[in-house]
Amino acid sequence: MHGKDRSRLTFLVTYAARHPDRIVGYVRRQARDTWLRFTTPDHVSYYRAVMRSDTARSSEAAVGSKTHESWLQIGQMQYDYLIKHGLKPDMRMLDIGCGNLRAGRLFIDYLDSGNYYGTDISPDILLAAQRTVEEYGLQRKMPYLTLTDDLKLAFLPDGHFDVVHAHSVFSHSPMPVIDECLAHVGRIMAPGGRFDFTFDRTVGTEHQVLREDFYYRTETLIDLAASHGLKAEYMADWEETGHHQSKIRVVRPA
Ligand SMILES: C[S@@+](CC[C@H](N)C(=O)[O-])C[C@H]1O[C@@H](n2cnc3c(N)ncnc32)[C@H](O)[C@@H]1O
Repeated sequence: MHGKDRSRLTFLVTYAARHPDRIVGYVRRQARDTWLRFTTPDHVSYYRAVMRSDTARSSEAAVGSKTHESWLQIGQMQYDYLIKHGLKPDMRMLDIGCGNLRAGRLFIDYLDSGNYYGTDISPDILLAAQRTVEEYGLQRKMPYLTLTDDLKLAFLPDGHFDVVHAHSVFSHSPMPVIDECLAHVGRIMAPGGRFDFTFDRTVGTEHQVLREDFYYRTETLIDLAASHGLKAEYMADWEETGHHQSKIRVVRPA
């Protein structure tokens, strides 16, 4: 499973033969993505346009959940994992690529007022996030929801966040975007803080599909973190959740 190169023609043909019902959707997505790639200047603008198009159809599908049950379940999975790993209400959390608060709504509810900070590159999904705050009655928790253009995090204070989180964000990010994040995230992390991110893992050749989905080897990302003076480790216990992505934790020594 983790060794497959999804960009190879043989993979696409075999996949199409097994799932003929998905061919039309794939071709439509291919055509849309090709158009968006030509009409946007860089990856962030491109992905923002993808999110605009996806969110217009369904904000839950735009963050990767085809059903509401899956939206609830994947959010709960992220929440349960961080609780198991010692998240406490007085901790300050930065949720990079917070989407429409699939997990964020649970973190906002749990954390002390003002301790949740969500960022995203997509204005459309942030508007959906505001609707989630309203729908789940979380207004009194005063979550921050901020639009970003890059991952330099330059507008955030030094040493502030105990937990930084990015679920299913690097799975949609080319290497320069991840590199930018790892180059700057250490500055805003509190001493002893951690940064958990998921990624699409391959044990074979690193590759991407439609510039939407990126597959990396674990060592590549651990080495990249090390090049920015951060210690990173592969979180084997995340695999027990059954989620299709893998997880790495980056720590800033106390
Ligand atoms: C698959 S969704 C996951 C959302 C949320 N983390 C969750 O689990 O529900 C990925 C989100 O990351 C955002 N995103 C993609 N690239 C980003 C970047 N470079 N910086 C911040 N957000 C980004 C997208 O707009 C989208 O909302």
